[in-house]
Amino acid sequence: RVLDAEGNVLVPGIVDCHIHNREPGLEYKEDWESATRAAAAGGVTTVVGMPNTDPVIDSPANLELKFERGEASAHVDFQSYAVVTSENLDLIPDIDEVGPLGFKVFLGSTVGDVPPPNDGEILEAMEKIRETGKRLGFHEENGEIIDHYTERFKAEGRNEPIDHSRSRPVIAEREAVERMITFAEETGARIHMFHVSSGSAAEAVGRGKNRGVDVTAETTPHYLWFTEDVMREKGNVARVQPPIRDAAEHDRLWEVGIDDDAIDCIATDHAPHTPAEKKVDDPFGNTWDAISGFVGLETEVPAMLTFVDQGRLSLEEWVRRHSTRPAQVWGMYPQKGSVQVGTDADFTIVDPNLEWTLEDRGELHSKNCVTPFGGESFTGKAIATVVRGQVVYEDGDVIGESGYGTRVDVD
Ligand code: NCD
Ligand code: ZN
Ligand code: ZN
Repeated sequence: RVLDAEGNVLVPGIVDCHIHNREPGLEYKEDWESATRAAAAGGVTTVVGMPNTDPVIDSPANLELKFERGEASAHVDFQSYAVVTSENLDLIPDIDEVGPLGFKVFLGSTVGDVPPPNDGEILEAMEKIRETGKRLGFHEENGEIIDHYTERFKAEGRNEPIDHSRSRPVIAEREAVERMITFAEETGARIHMFHVSSGSAAEAVGRGKNRGVDVTAETTPHYLWFTEDVMREKGNVARVQPPIRDAAEHDRLWEVGIDDDAIDCIATDHAPHTPAEKKVDDPFGNTWDAISGFVGLETEVPAMLTFVDQGRLSLEEWVRRHSTRPAQVWGMYPQKGSVQVGTDADFTIVDPNLEWTLEDRGELHSKNCVTPFGGESFTGKAIATVVRGQVVYEDGDVIGESGYGTRVDVD
């Protein structure tokens, strides 16, 4: 098979270390097949699933189940995190034996029933995970601060989703980042901050790096693309945890996170929910119970290429953050995140000049396609996706076989 890349750009396969593939248990939202079909169509060759499934991935058996399901149906290569709660600290070595990419702690409530461990338990988890050599990532929001503001805002009758960024305020994120960095400084653990949404939190990551703490961080295309004005335009459709921030925090995220390099990785936080759960028919209703999160696997490469086209970062800086660094941070390099001539490599061919607009709730490959990127215009798109030498996507069609994708072995 000959792929004609003339006029286009070949980059190492894009690595997305933060998706919610929803399987096992939440297949009405998404499953391994549909998530990895969307990944292939988006130019993404490796995805890492989050553990807030049903059951949650908190035991060796549940992690094995998640891997088995992926082996059966994935189109691209995959991995998974295992969750740490107050109930499974003793299982960390046994879970590690099954071979997760890393571990995750949810510091406050988010989507799914994952009770956060307390500070003492987090310190213990860090010590245990340090012994595995793996990294511990955080949903980096202080739940106590969020619960307090949410109750207050509800009592005051303030409007949700318009006030979403203040009921889950930046301080909840910044405090959590600083506390986890302090804990890592104490324990010597390697830590990661998922979905950093604000300049203030990016600054905290940068300070930790300067102190020599092994802290890495990611942000997502939506925090770089939108400001909180999008809540007035798109309401609950754009609701996500952490929330999309105001212009000052957004600009600072670019300056500190990207220009000054506090942020290592780009990932999507691809989080599919049904249109009913997203309340798309009443996106501005005062609905505190609307669900957070939206899909992103097919808009992440276009969004980042659009930033490249705008001159906001170079092609090399984009590829480093969206392929090489994520693979390095999570121990998959150079298996992933590099193209070695003469091997069955993963790579993505992008057309950096293709101008296109995503229709509102238009043609995506996920089971549920609600995204605030609906209606947005891009310059750039993935036109072919190659996983271990096999073309899995070309010119609009996912042509790879379900089940071809395999677990990335990191042990
Ligand atoms: C995620 C989800 O739907 O699982 N939602 C979100 O708003 N980000 C949960 C998460 O990433 O914390
Ligand atoms: Zn999260
Ligand atoms: Zn997430």
